[in-house]
Amino acid sequence: MNGDFTFHNPTKLHFGENAMDALADELKAFGPVVQLCYGGGSIKKNGIYDQVVSILKSAGKTIVEDGGVMPNPTLEKMLHGAALARENNVDLILAVGGGSTIDYAKAVSVSAWCDEDPWEKYFIRFEEPSCRIIPVGDVLTMVGTGSEMNGGSVITNHDANLKIGKVFGPDVFPKFAILNPRFTFSVPYRQMVAGFFDIMCHILEQYLSGEDDTTSDYIAEGLMLSLIHSSRIAIKNPEDYEARSNIMWTATWALNTLIAKGKSTDWEVHMLGQAVSALTDATHGMTLSAVSLPYYRLILPYGLKKFVRFAQNVWGVNPEGKSETEIAQEGLKAFEAWMREIGVAMNITELGATEDMLEQLADATLVLTGGYKILTREEILAIFKESL
Ligand code: NZQ
Ligand code: ZN
Repeated sequence: MNGDFTFHNPTKLHFGENAMDALADELKAFGPVVQLCYGGGSIKKNGIYDQVVSILKSAGKTIVEDGGVMPNPTLEKMLHGAALARENNVDLILAVGGGSTIDYAKAVSVSAWCDEDPWEKYFIRFEEPSCRIIPVGDVLTMVGTGSEMNGGSVITNHDANLKIGKVFGPDVFPKFAILNPRFTFSVPYRQMVAGFFDIMCHILEQYLSGEDDTTSDYIAEGLMLSLIHSSRIAIKNPEDYEARSNIMWTATWALNTLIAKGKSTDWEVHMLGQAVSALTDATHGMTLSAVSLPYYRLILPYGLKKFVRFAQNVWGVNPEGKSETEIAQEGLKAFEAWMREIGVAMNITELGATEDMLEQLADATLVLTGGYKILTREEILAIFKESL
């Protein structure tokens, strides 16, 4: 394990078919006014909204309604939510939904009482909050992002053609999270598999980097094996509780800071995917799948040993009689076959990107330094071209 680190995840997590039973108790710790954030209406169809409202009412809470959070939440919506929180002097923000709703809630929580421009402060200058932070709790309905138990918040600014994620510290992590795998059964197939790929990508962003022997990488391999196994069951039967519950738990651990400890991490696939999303508003997990293979093929020679390990330990590639490059490439082929099997986007054209967007896509891509190769602009353009 490299360097010194502190592991502190303050989110209290309730998991299982009866997880919602914990909500009433959790609410006792907060004041009377609750801003109820949710998306475009799925929770009204599947009954989760009614359950939550009834618990809030029994607890004597005043509900400030804040629905309509869109996938890839926008700065405009976030500023509106922040004003609502401030006007109503909200005591708790309760996010009921997927990553978009929870990310939105976190952004609102640090913006409501912020006297500066929150976009500039958090998403451009990456500063920490210096104002009162409204506590957030969540009820997760869609699996993938890990937002339920982390400090991440990704906001899209359409005027600037930018989608940027800020990773806040423990003060912004949700205070509690309610995870009932059954709540995810109504997620449409395409969203479900986009979430599966998002989980895989989170693990790979932290696994495909560094050359040291770390416990974090062994945990990452275990999470990947579980995800691949359960995803194959879930695509045949999305209501298989065992598979969906395993995937829900894997998603949380894939991005709650554990497997990043003691090692370097990459995150360049997310930077490429976020650029696609900024220009097309495509589903997050699909933007990642569409750019992954061209990116991994480009960095493979620079991280060869790790790609060989990935091939053998995760995909079971037999190394006999093969060069390291051949083993690594066979691993990527197996990875590609799994992507096609679960049915994720394999190119950015199907997400609405066109060749004349290439320069803009490159402009919107942040270049990070933790991976095996720091990308040049030419390489970024080549990846997007190959992803078309
Ligand atoms: O809006 P509603 O009507 O609720 O419908 C949503 C939405 O259309 C639907 N859905 C969610 N739960 C459902 C359901 N439909 C039926 N039944 C249910 N139980 O699914 C659609 C997608 O929801 P969304 O919240 O957008 O998906 P996801 O959880 O993938 O979140 C994506 C956002 O999270 C960010 C992404 O960039 C994107 O903006 N991320 C956040 C991260 C973090 N906080 O650490 C890290 C990730 O890498 C990611 O960047
Ligand atoms: Zn992601």
